[in-house]
Order: sequence, then structure tokens, then C-alpha cells
Amino acid sequence: MTGERQGKLSPYSTLIEQLKSHLTENNGDLSLLTNVPDKWEKHGNLLLLPQGSFEEWSEYAGTELWTLVAHSLGGQRLALKGEISGPKRRPGATLLLGEDSWVTHREHGIDYSFDITKSMFSAGNLPERGRMGDLDCSGETILDLYAGIGYYTLPLLVRAGATHVHACEWSIDAIHALNHNLEANKVSERCTIYSGDNKLAVAQNGSAAKALGTCDRVMLGLLPSSEDGWPLALAALKPEGGLLHIHGNAPSGGEEKWANSVVEQLSEIDSRKVELVNLVKVKWYSPHVRHCVLDIQIG
Ligand SMILES: C[S@@+](CC[C@H](N)C(=O)[O-])C[C@H]1O[C@@H](n2cnc3c(N)ncnc32)[C@H](O)[C@@H]1O
Repeated sequence: MTGERQGKLSPYSTLIEQLKSHLTENNGDLSLLTNVPDKWEKHGNLLLLPQGSFEEWSEYAGTELWTLVAHSLGGQRLALKGEISGPKRRPGATLLLGEDSWVTHREHGIDYSFDITKSMFSAGNLPERGRMGDLDCSGETILDLYAGIGYYTLPLLVRAGATHVHACEWSIDAIHALNHNLEANKVSERCTIYSGDNKLAVAQNGSAAKALGTCDRVMLGLLPSSEDGWPLALAALKPEGGLLHIHGNAPSGGEEKWANSVVEQLSEIDSRKVELVNLVKVKWYSPHVRHCVLDIQIG
């Protein structure tokens, strides 16, 4: 039974009611009510609205409107999503209401904290973060080439029980959040962070050189493609092999073809046996493009 049937309005209906009153009091145009977002993300008491929300409402934009929206949806702070861009996958989000853009998102018993204006967090990757946490990685050394705030490093350490994760990241803001998250989830002693370009870190004389040839598993969680990291990942695996989790964007309907082409390209770089174990369709990246993950066994 919905909240409405029990006599309690849903957050969306509350929002519409409140906005309607606001427009009526200000002799506003009620057709604006057709331009109200019906989905949002909640990170603690901060509500993150989809990109472009309330674009038509510019003449009302301000603290009064944002307070009304936040309170109607059960929050205290409000932010607007932007375009994720650049090599550091900056989120482009802006804070509309509140002073502080640091949030804590709890998922599968793990706390992910980050600055919503500086680091991205993909709600659609929830099943993949869950899948990584469900693995049994006890005894394993893992390399995460694109660690971010700990999207996969944290579930691998906290839930999958990895012995050690080598985490590469070049965004100072993401590293700040990652450090915080490792401490907050009590796993910092099992993780080493390498700041800077992973190509320099995972090289013969790089800070992460000791990881070369020692890893059981490598995470390659970068979109639209993690191709730059494939040679590093192969070099990091133990001589007898291990598993790669390769993220990438594939055209819808062409996911298997894309997977086979990745296997072929890996075979050209590495002489060990390359076998596709799993193709996971994580989410829609755009209308005709899917974010996929390939579990690939090497050796
Ligand atoms: C945000 S996560 C990606 C999460 C998710 N799979 C996605 O792309 O939507 C990728 C992280 O890799 C980092 N990164 C990208 N290229 C890198 C490189 N060459 N060396 C180190 N970190 C890198 C970015 O700064 C970013 O924090």
C-alpha cells in the first residue's frame, strides 16, 4: 500500500503540493509544475537532483524555493547534478542549499564519504559495488588502478576480506575522501594509496613497483574505457595469472562483440591464456550505451 493510500503523502506529492502553494501565493504559472523532478538521490540529509532540474524555475530560484524543495523531500541540503567530465571524472555538481557539500552515503554496511562537488558517486553502480563485496577475496592482493573515493576498494576490503589493496588515484580530492573512508571503515592498515598517474606508479621504478607480478586481481573501474590500464593490469598479476575486472562502455546489443574484442586485444598484449568468465551489464550510460564489466581470467 502506498503512503498516499494510508493518508500520508509521498515526498514527490508533498513537493508538488508545496510548489503549487508557492506558485499560487506568488501568482505564478502553474504549468511550471510539469517541470518538477520525480527522482533524486539522497546522501544523508543532502538531496541531489538530476541535471537540469528546475531549469524553468529561474525567476523563483533562491533560498526560499530550495528550502521548500529540500524540506518537502525530507532533507536539509540540496544540490544539482552536473556533467561528469575530464580525466578526474569531476562531477560538476553545485550546492543549492547548505554550507557544506561533504556527504556520507551508507551502502551494504559501508560508509562512503565524499565532497559531492568534487568527486562523483554513481548510484547506478550499486549492484556492482555489491557484487565486488560478495566475492571471497581472503588471502588476495588486489590492485585498484582507478580507486576514486574507494568505490571498489572499500567493498573488497570490508566485505570481501582482501588481504591488501594497492589503490592508485590521481585526484587529490578523491584521495582525501579515500583516506577518510579507509579510516572510517577501519581498513586503512590493509590499503596502500599511490597518489598520481597509475602509469607512473605501476612502472619498474614507480612507487607501486612492488605490486608488479604479485596481484591476484586487478580492478579497472574507469569509464568510458579503461584501455590505458590494461598493460599495467597484466603486468601486476602474478606470473601464474589472476582476474581482471574491466569496466567499459559498449553499444547496446553489441556487448558480446565488445567483450570478444577486449579478449582479443588482451591476447595480443599477453601470451597467457585469456578467458572471458562473466559479462555484467551494470547500467545504461546513455540511451544506446551500456556500462559493462568483464571478469577476465588470465592464465
Ligand atoms: C571516478 S572513478 C570511476 C567510477 C565509475 N566506474 C565511472 O567511471 O563512472 C575513476 C577514478 O580514476 C581516476 N583516474 C583516472 N585515470 C587515472 C590515472 N591514469 N591514474 C590514476 N587515477 C586515475 C579518476 O581521478 C577517478 O577518481
